[in-house]
Amino acid sequence: MKYEMIQAPKGVSEYGPPMSAAFEWVRESLIAPAKLAGYQLMELPVFEDTALFSRGVGESTDVVSKEMYTFEDRGGRSLTLRPEGTAGVMRAVIESGLDRGQLPIKVWYSGAFFRAERPQAGRYRQFYQVGIEAIGLDDPAIDAEVIAIADQGFKSLGLRNYRLEITSLGDNESRAAHRVDLLRFIATLDLDEATKARAAINPLRLFDDKRIEMQKAMAQAPLLLDYLSQKSAENFKQVKSYLDQLGITYQVNPRMVRGLDYYTGTTFEFIHEGLGAQSGIGGGGRYDGLMEILGGQGLSGIGFGLGVDRALLAAQAEGVLLENQFSSDLFIIPLGDNQKSRALSLAAQLRLCGFRTEIAFGNRALKGAMKAADKSGSRYVIVLGDSEVASGTVELKRMSDGFTSSVKIEELQKALTGAL
Ligand code: HAM
Repeated sequence: MKYEMIQAPKGVSEYGPPMSAAFEWVRESLIAPAKLAGYQLMELPVFEDTALFSRGVGESTDVVSKEMYTFEDRGGRSLTLRPEGTAGVMRAVIESGLDRGQLPIKVWYSGAFFRAERPQAGRYRQFYQVGIEAIGLDDPAIDAEVIAIADQGFKSLGLRNYRLEITSLGDNESRAAHRVDLLRFIATLDLDEATKARAAINPLRLFDDKRIEMQKAMAQAPLLLDYLSQKSAENFKQVKSYLDQLGITYQVNPRMVRGLDYYTGTTFEFIHEGLGAQSGIGGGGRYDGLMEILGGQGLSGIGFGLGVDRALLAAQAEGVLLENQFSSDLFIIPLGDNQKSRALSLAAQLRLCGFRTEIAFGNRALKGAMKAADKSGSRYVIVLGDSEVASGTVELKRMSDGFTSSVKIEELQKALTGAL
């Protein structure tokens, strides 16, 4: 009997060789600046109590109202695959009592997230984010640092064609003042029931409505940025001034609406020019009331989530992934069984020195092994036969142009250091 092939669920992103090496490089590069800034790993469950997201992320959001993977476990509990990372971090911080220790709590995370969106290029139902959260400090300098860390992540990939948009959603006082006028304005619009319901929970969400008639209608709406309290305005000014001093360019976008309801104060998005509709490569902001509504104390926080899949697409679009960037430095071809153990120990030695070293296994003839070396993309090749071992010398062949040089086996490490 012939079994039918099983396919991956629709819309998930997955990475095998050779793309997985680039994916891994993007993911690790994006989060490296956070580690250098003292952020520590937080490894969290992939599923959580559904209430964490409905309460934390907000009922008015698409994420909660349309995109959650929610299921009942065998004990009848409602669980949801995490659509984002911030709510889980807050839950864990409260639950473990970290909020009662040294502040700020600075953590990073990396992993898969799940949203039942309509799949398209750059938009997946399982996707990958790296993120950070800095909890318990209300200081515009940390806002600037968080933005700078994200920016450094993108820069370290070599990306150039992206922009940073920032705004401030103000404090409670700012939002309350704005809300009055915004609701008054919205009441003058002719809205369908679903939109009215969304506006009642979070009127800011109407700025995010993609329908042309709604965008036209909202063009005249009062902007939160004009309603900032003195403290919020001062904070926002400070954040901008720090960014200026850091040489980070940004555009203020007073109409920015993040897809999650917990944001307050400084909010930001990184947008890549080369990705079409799914151009958001990262975003974040302050969420000063989140911990409290999740049952914790009233600590403020700020963080970001960067889309690893989209950053990888951006890297491809900008051509910053170099050919053979991820392939081995050296490919060793042992000739015959005698030389296999020699190849194994030589490879082990070289790997200890950090050289990516592969061996041609099996009993292929030299021609076949050379082909395998070529296919592997390895930068250099040596053949290890009886005569090479007897003379203690190998021919180090550069694969890009076939140039060879004689190198003593014990000096291979030095030769490779000079060559790579
Ligand atoms: P977010 O803007 O919803 O923020 O997601 C962050 C990034 O994840 C987006 O900019 C995008 O690159 C990527 N992303 C989101 N959805 C998808 C998808 N369906 N397919 C591919 N990539 C996607 C958050 O999640 C917040 N938790 C960020 C944050 C942390 N705010 C404060 N702290």
